[in-house]
Amino acid sequence: MKQIKELGLKIQDAVKVFPELKKYVRDGKLDFGNREARILYNRAIAKAVFGLDINYHPKALVTPPISRYIFLKTFLRGKEKVLEIGTGHSALMSIMANKLFDCEVWATEVSEEFLRYAKANIEKNNAKVRLIRSNGGLIRGVIPKEEKFDVIFSAPPYYEKPTKGVLTKIEAVGGGKYGEEFSIMLLSEAKDYLRSKGKVALFLPNKEPLLNAIKKEAEKCGYKVKDITFKAGTRIRHSLIFQI
Ligand SMILES: C[S@@+](CC[C@H](N)C(=O)[O-])C[C@H]1O[C@@H](n2cnc3c(N)ncnc32)[C@H](O)[C@@H]1O
Repeated sequence: MKQIKELGLKIQDAVKVFPELKKYVRDGKLDFGNREARILYNRAIAKAVFGLDINYHPKALVTPPISRYIFLKTFLRGKEKVLEIGTGHSALMSIMANKLFDCEVWATEVSEEFLRYAKANIEKNNAKVRLIRSNGGLIRGVIPKEEKFDVIFSAPPYYEKPTKGVLTKIEAVGGGKYGEEFSIMLLSEAKDYLRSKGKVALFLPNKEPLLNAIKKEAEKCGYKVKDITFKAGTRIRHSLIFQI
Protein backbone atom coordinates (compact mmCIF):
# COMPACT_ATOMS: atom_id res chain seq x y z
CA MET A 1 0.00 0.00 0.00
CA LYS A 2 1.36 3.43 -0.94
CA GLN A 3 2.19 5.70 2.02
CA ILE A 4 0.89 9.27 1.75
CA LYS A 5 3.03 11.73 3.73
CA GLU A 6 0.90 14.85 3.99
CA LEU A 7 -2.81 15.18 3.28
CA GLY A 8 -2.88 18.72 1.96
CA LEU A 9 -1.29 21.18 -0.46
CA LYS A 10 -0.50 24.85 0.15
CA ILE A 11 -1.75 27.24 -2.52
CA GLN A 12 1.82 28.34 -3.32
CA ASP A 13 2.81 24.70 -3.88
CA ALA A 14 -0.23 24.11 -6.10
CA VAL A 15 0.88 27.07 -8.22
CA LYS A 16 4.23 25.35 -8.71
CA VAL A 17 2.39 22.31 -10.15
CA PHE A 18 0.08 24.39 -12.38
CA PRO A 19 1.44 27.95 -12.89
CA GLU A 20 -1.89 28.86 -14.63
CA LEU A 21 -3.40 28.86 -11.12
CA LYS A 22 -1.60 32.09 -10.32
CA LYS A 23 -4.23 34.24 -12.00
CA TYR A 24 -6.83 33.02 -9.48
CA VAL A 25 -4.71 33.87 -6.40
CA ARG A 26 -5.15 37.18 -4.54
CA ASP A 27 -3.27 37.91 -1.29
CA GLY A 28 -2.28 34.27 -1.04
CA LYS A 29 -5.92 33.10 -1.29
CA LEU A 30 -7.40 31.08 -4.13
CA ASP A 31 -10.75 32.07 -5.66
CA PHE A 32 -12.60 28.85 -4.87
CA GLY A 33 -15.77 30.34 -6.37
CA ASN A 34 -14.17 29.92 -9.79
CA ARG A 35 -14.65 26.46 -11.31
CA GLU A 36 -11.46 26.57 -13.37
CA ALA A 37 -9.49 27.46 -10.22
CA ARG A 38 -11.12 24.57 -8.31
CA ILE A 39 -10.34 22.14 -11.11
CA LEU A 40 -6.69 23.19 -11.32
CA TYR A 41 -6.23 23.13 -7.55
CA ASN A 42 -7.74 19.63 -7.22
CA ARG A 43 -5.68 18.39 -10.17
CA ALA A 44 -2.60 19.76 -8.41
CA ILE A 45 -3.53 17.87 -5.23
CA ALA A 46 -4.10 14.66 -7.19
CA LYS A 47 -0.66 15.05 -8.73
CA ALA A 48 1.44 16.35 -5.83
CA VAL A 49 -0.12 14.36 -2.98
CA PHE A 50 -1.17 11.13 -4.68
CA GLY A 51 0.94 10.99 -7.87
CA LEU A 52 -2.17 10.83 -10.07
CA ASP A 53 -2.93 12.64 -13.30
CA ILE A 54 -6.67 13.38 -13.31
CA ASN A 55 -8.75 15.27 -15.87
CA TYR A 56 -12.09 16.64 -14.75
CA HIS A 57 -15.18 17.13 -16.88
CA PRO A 58 -15.61 20.92 -17.28
CA LYS A 59 -19.24 20.96 -16.08
CA ALA A 60 -19.54 18.19 -13.52
CA LEU A 61 -18.64 17.63 -9.85
CA VAL A 62 -14.99 18.48 -9.13
CA THR A 63 -14.14 15.38 -7.10
CA PRO A 64 -11.83 16.40 -4.20
CA PRO A 65 -9.02 13.84 -3.89
CA ILE A 66 -8.41 14.23 -0.14
CA SER A 67 -11.96 13.52 1.01
CA ARG A 68 -12.15 10.51 -1.31
CA TYR A 69 -8.85 9.15 0.02
CA ILE A 70 -9.91 9.56 3.67
CA PHE A 71 -13.16 7.77 2.85
CA LEU A 72 -11.30 4.82 1.25
CA LYS A 73 -8.99 4.63 4.28
CA THR A 74 -12.00 4.04 6.55
CA PHE A 75 -12.59 0.58 5.05
CA LEU A 76 -9.71 -0.54 2.80
CA ARG A 77 -6.68 -2.33 4.21
CA GLY A 78 -5.12 -3.31 0.85
CA LYS A 79 -5.55 -5.99 -1.82
CA GLU A 80 -9.33 -6.35 -1.49
CA LYS A 81 -11.58 -7.13 -4.43
CA VAL A 82 -13.86 -4.08 -4.70
CA LEU A 83 -16.71 -2.70 -6.75
CA GLU A 84 -17.45 1.01 -7.12
CA ILE A 85 -20.93 2.05 -8.25
CA GLY A 86 -20.78 5.33 -10.20
CA THR A 87 -17.13 6.29 -10.83
CA GLY A 88 -18.09 9.69 -12.18
CA HIS A 89 -15.90 11.30 -14.84
CA SER A 90 -12.78 11.42 -12.66
CA ALA A 91 -12.87 7.72 -11.64
CA LEU A 92 -10.72 8.99 -8.79
CA MET A 93 -11.80 6.49 -6.13
CA SER A 94 -11.42 3.48 -8.41
CA ILE A 95 -8.00 4.67 -9.53
CA MET A 96 -6.94 5.27 -5.91
CA ALA A 97 -8.26 1.86 -4.82
CA ASN A 98 -6.09 0.20 -7.46
CA LYS A 99 -2.97 2.39 -7.41
CA LEU A 100 -2.78 3.28 -3.71
CA PHE A 101 -4.47 0.26 -2.06
CA ASP A 102 -3.52 -2.40 -4.58
CA CYS A 103 -7.12 -3.56 -4.91
CA GLU A 104 -8.68 -5.57 -7.71
CA VAL A 105 -11.21 -3.02 -8.94
CA TRP A 106 -14.48 -3.39 -10.78
CA ALA A 107 -16.49 -0.22 -11.40
CA THR A 108 -19.64 1.02 -13.11
CA GLU A 109 -20.89 4.31 -14.50
CA VAL A 110 -24.16 5.11 -16.24
CA SER A 111 -23.33 8.32 -18.12
CA GLU A 112 -21.80 7.73 -21.54
CA GLU A 113 -19.88 11.01 -21.37
CA PHE A 114 -18.51 10.37 -17.86
CA LEU A 115 -17.48 6.88 -18.97
CA ARG A 116 -15.29 8.35 -21.71
CA TYR A 117 -13.51 10.61 -19.21
CA ALA A 118 -13.25 7.80 -16.64
CA LYS A 119 -11.70 5.44 -19.18
CA ALA A 120 -9.17 8.08 -20.27
CA ASN A 121 -8.20 8.79 -16.62
CA ILE A 122 -7.84 5.08 -15.86
CA GLU A 123 -5.60 4.57 -18.90
CA LYS A 124 -3.51 7.68 -18.29
CA ASN A 125 -2.71 6.49 -14.77
CA ASN A 126 -2.02 2.91 -15.83
CA ALA A 127 -4.66 1.74 -13.38
CA LYS A 128 -6.26 -1.67 -13.61
CA VAL A 129 -9.99 -1.06 -13.35
CA ARG A 130 -12.63 -3.17 -15.01
CA LEU A 131 -15.03 -0.39 -16.04
CA ILE A 132 -18.58 -1.44 -16.93
CA ARG A 133 -21.32 0.65 -18.46
CA SER A 134 -24.49 0.46 -16.41
CA ASN A 135 -27.76 -0.01 -18.26
CA GLY A 136 -29.46 2.12 -15.60
CA GLY A 137 -29.42 -0.66 -13.00
CA LEU A 138 -27.12 -0.62 -9.98
CA ILE A 139 -25.59 -4.08 -9.49
CA ARG A 140 -28.19 -6.67 -10.53
CA GLY A 141 -28.18 -7.10 -14.31
CA VAL A 142 -24.94 -5.07 -14.54
CA ILE A 143 -22.37 -7.23 -12.72
CA PRO A 144 -22.23 -10.99 -13.43
CA LYS A 145 -24.01 -12.92 -10.66
CA GLU A 146 -21.01 -15.08 -9.82
CA GLU A 147 -18.73 -12.11 -8.94
CA LYS A 148 -18.40 -11.52 -5.18
CA PHE A 149 -16.61 -8.61 -3.52
CA ASP A 150 -14.95 -7.73 -0.23
CA VAL A 151 -16.27 -4.19 -0.50
CA ILE A 152 -18.90 -2.47 -2.62
CA PHE A 153 -18.58 1.30 -2.30
CA SER A 154 -20.11 4.43 -3.73
CA ALA A 155 -20.42 8.18 -3.39
CA PRO A 156 -24.10 7.96 -4.28
CA PRO A 157 -26.32 10.73 -5.61
CA TYR A 158 -28.18 11.94 -2.51
CA TYR A 159 -30.39 14.91 -3.27
CA GLU A 160 -34.16 14.54 -3.36
CA LYS A 161 -34.48 16.89 -6.33
CA PRO A 162 -32.18 18.52 -8.92
CA THR A 163 -29.72 21.03 -7.45
CA LYS A 164 -28.70 24.40 -8.83
CA GLY A 165 -25.25 24.73 -10.32
CA VAL A 166 -22.46 22.45 -9.22
CA LEU A 167 -23.86 18.98 -9.91
CA THR A 168 -25.45 17.53 -13.04
CA LYS A 169 -28.82 15.82 -12.44
CA ILE A 170 -27.44 12.30 -12.76
CA GLU A 171 -24.78 13.01 -10.13
CA ALA A 172 -27.21 14.64 -7.77
CA VAL A 173 -30.60 12.99 -7.55
CA GLY A 174 -30.84 9.95 -5.29
CA GLY A 175 -34.64 9.86 -5.18
CA GLY A 176 -37.00 9.30 -2.25
CA LYS A 177 -38.03 11.79 0.42
CA TYR A 178 -34.47 12.65 1.54
CA GLY A 179 -32.41 11.41 -1.45
CA GLU A 180 -31.98 7.97 0.17
CA GLU A 181 -33.48 5.73 -2.53
CA PHE A 182 -30.32 5.09 -4.58
CA SER A 183 -28.37 4.08 -1.45
CA ILE A 184 -31.13 1.80 -0.16
CA MET A 185 -31.44 0.02 -3.49
CA LEU A 186 -27.68 -0.40 -3.62
CA LEU A 187 -27.66 -1.94 -0.13
CA SER A 188 -30.46 -4.32 -0.97
CA GLU A 189 -28.77 -5.56 -4.18
CA ALA A 190 -25.26 -5.66 -2.66
CA LYS A 191 -26.20 -8.51 -0.30
CA ASP A 192 -26.04 -10.99 -3.19
CA TYR A 193 -22.59 -9.78 -4.30
CA LEU A 194 -20.66 -9.73 -1.04
CA ARG A 195 -18.12 -12.29 0.10
CA SER A 196 -18.53 -13.51 3.67
CA LYS A 197 -17.59 -10.59 5.98
CA GLY A 198 -17.98 -8.30 2.95
CA LYS A 199 -18.96 -4.65 3.43
CA VAL A 200 -20.82 -1.86 1.72
CA ALA A 201 -19.40 1.65 2.22
CA LEU A 202 -21.18 4.88 1.32
CA PHE A 203 -19.72 8.38 1.20
CA LEU A 204 -22.40 10.77 2.46
CA PRO A 205 -22.87 14.37 3.58
CA ASN A 206 -23.78 15.50 7.08
CA LYS A 207 -27.57 15.40 6.53
CA GLU A 208 -29.23 13.67 9.43
CA PRO A 209 -32.62 12.80 7.86
CA LEU A 210 -30.82 11.24 4.89
CA LEU A 211 -28.38 9.29 7.08
CA ASN A 212 -31.18 8.10 9.37
CA ALA A 213 -33.39 6.98 6.46
CA ILE A 214 -30.52 4.91 5.02
CA LYS A 215 -29.47 3.44 8.38
CA LYS A 216 -33.05 2.46 9.22
CA GLU A 217 -33.59 0.59 5.94
CA ALA A 218 -30.16 -1.03 6.16
CA GLU A 219 -30.97 -2.43 9.59
CA LYS A 220 -34.26 -3.80 8.23
CA CYS A 221 -32.19 -5.56 5.52
CA GLY A 222 -30.08 -7.20 8.25
CA TYR A 223 -26.98 -4.97 8.11
CA LYS A 224 -25.04 -3.69 11.11
CA VAL A 225 -24.05 -0.06 10.56
CA LYS A 226 -20.91 1.84 11.53
CA ASP A 227 -20.90 5.62 11.02
CA ILE A 228 -17.45 7.21 10.76
CA THR A 229 -17.47 11.00 10.67
CA PHE A 230 -14.56 12.94 9.24
CA LYS A 231 -13.72 16.47 8.22
CA ALA A 232 -12.62 17.30 4.70
CA GLY A 233 -11.74 20.98 4.35
CA THR A 234 -14.59 22.81 6.02
CA ARG A 235 -17.12 20.02 5.43
CA ILE A 236 -18.21 17.17 7.63
CA ARG A 237 -18.57 13.86 5.80
CA HIS A 238 -19.75 10.40 6.78
CA SER A 239 -18.45 7.01 5.83
CA LEU A 240 -21.32 4.62 6.52
CA ILE A 241 -20.05 1.06 6.62
CA PHE A 242 -22.54 -1.81 6.48
CA GLN A 243 -21.90 -5.45 7.24
CA ILE A 244 -24.28 -8.41 7.49
C1 LIG B 1 -22.31 11.83 -6.69
S1 LIG B 1 -21.56 11.20 -8.16
C2 LIG B 1 -20.08 10.48 -7.50
C3 LIG B 1 -18.98 10.39 -8.52
C4 LIG B 1 -17.61 9.92 -8.01
N1 LIG B 1 -17.61 8.53 -7.66
C5 LIG B 1 -17.12 10.72 -6.83
O1 LIG B 1 -16.61 10.15 -5.88
O2 LIG B 1 -17.24 11.95 -6.86
C6 LIG B 1 -22.57 9.78 -8.53
C7 LIG B 1 -22.22 9.08 -9.83
O3 LIG B 1 -23.09 7.96 -10.00
C8 LIG B 1 -23.44 7.86 -11.37
N2 LIG B 1 -24.65 7.06 -11.47
C9 LIG B 1 -25.95 7.45 -11.35
N3 LIG B 1 -26.76 6.39 -11.54
C10 LIG B 1 -25.96 5.31 -11.75
C11 LIG B 1 -26.20 3.93 -12.01
N4 LIG B 1 -27.45 3.42 -12.08
N5 LIG B 1 -25.14 3.11 -12.19
C12 LIG B 1 -23.88 3.60 -12.14
N6 LIG B 1 -23.59 4.89 -11.92
C13 LIG B 1 -24.61 5.73 -11.72
C14 LIG B 1 -23.57 9.30 -11.83
O4 LIG B 1 -23.48 9.44 -13.21
C15 LIG B 1 -22.40 9.95 -11.09
O5 LIG B 1 -21.24 9.90 -11.85
